[in-house]
Amino acid sequence: MIPLNSNLSTLKRSQIRVYTNLAREVDDCVMLTIGEPDFDTPEAIKAAAMAALTANQTHYAPNQGTLALRRAVAEFETGRGHAVGAEQVLITIGACHALFTALLGILNPGEEIIVPTPGFGLYETIATIAGARTVPLDISKTGFQIDAGALKAAITDKTKAIIVNSPCNPTGAVFSAESLKNIKEAVLGRPIFVICDNVYNQLSYADCPDLSLDAELADQLILCQSFSKPYAMTGWRVGYLTCPDYVMDRLLLLSAAEITAVPTFLQEAAITALRTDPAPMREAYRKRRDYVCARLRAMGLTFPEPEGAFYVFVDISRFGIPSGEFCTRLIREAKVACVPGACFGAEGYIRISYCTGDQELEKGMDRLEEFIGKL
Ligand SMILES: Cc1ncc(COP(=O)(O)O)c(C=O)c1O
Repeated sequence: MIPLNSNLSTLKRSQIRVYTNLAREVDDCVMLTIGEPDFDTPEAIKAAAMAALTANQTHYAPNQGTLALRRAVAEFETGRGHAVGAEQVLITIGACHALFTALLGILNPGEEIIVPTPGFGLYETIATIAGARTVPLDISKTGFQIDAGALKAAITDKTKAIIVNSPCNPTGAVFSAESLKNIKEAVLGRPIFVICDNVYNQLSYADCPDLSLDAELADQLILCQSFSKPYAMTGWRVGYLTCPDYVMDRLLLLSAAEITAVPTFLQEAAITALRTDPAPMREAYRKRRDYVCARLRAMGLTFPEPEGAFYVFVDISRFGIPSGEFCTRLIREAKVACVPGACFGAEGYIRISYCTGDQELEKGMDRLEEFIGKL
């Protein structure tokens, strides 16, 4: 066998997909695994894509994204307090590609990124591909908030970036102003980037302090954003990043080499998405969050308060079963699929995704209740 890229030898398949596939083998299994809106993309957005196709917007777009969409993004971001120009916006294939471009663009082999943990597994995957290293910052013992001392201790002379994902996947928790202050104080003026993964920030049910709005950090900030979650556009694969000019010079070269550009007619539709109010979907998620949390509380289960996204991260440590085994048994014995906390770097938890219909949620909660009753 011819040796392959050794950076990739430790990569594993996303466990979210693994448990979803396992559940698909079980008839009538309630799927609470994938973080994907069950809603369809709003009609106006689909109509905009179809009109763009009819108008033959089928040619290569500029590498950085169409000027029209970059202007719309700049206006949208500036409107919410993150002042950027169109030249600081790069249109990407979802937030995955935004994160990939950002991290690959800044990381040298051997450098480190700090990832508050539990956290989304993709950061570690990309760092590994780059030959860099993830430094998990365990926030499960500090109320899922950033402790100033712990963060300080995690920073080394190799630290290149810290990931800030709020509301968070997998907990749905939101970082407090205090947490963000701790991050800012630790990195301001140092050669450390703040990567704000804000894919859920339009799906927060409470006040959500946001480090990307802090102008003092503008020179160190890379914001990664997506159309997937707030507009139910997961399959469209459109997102963007914003960054300082000198960073854009490099990231643009990388993105152009990776993908050339995002499909032109999708970018036209994304402009319509930015003018779409996600409030009705957010309200539906909020009601489901309330329902699921009430049911879990009634079962005597505990979890960090989910104030955004569409996840609850339930503490199962008292059952003394590893989270992977718990989820496998839950699928096989109770026909409910969740994701083990271990997939997010936190043993003793399972992630429940509640972006599914009310009846399915009720069925899932009934079955979970029966399952834990028997443990
Ligand atoms: C925290 C977080 N970041 C980024 C992404 C990637 O989103 P997308 O590539 O669909 O825009 C996801 C998807 O689940 C996520 O949960």
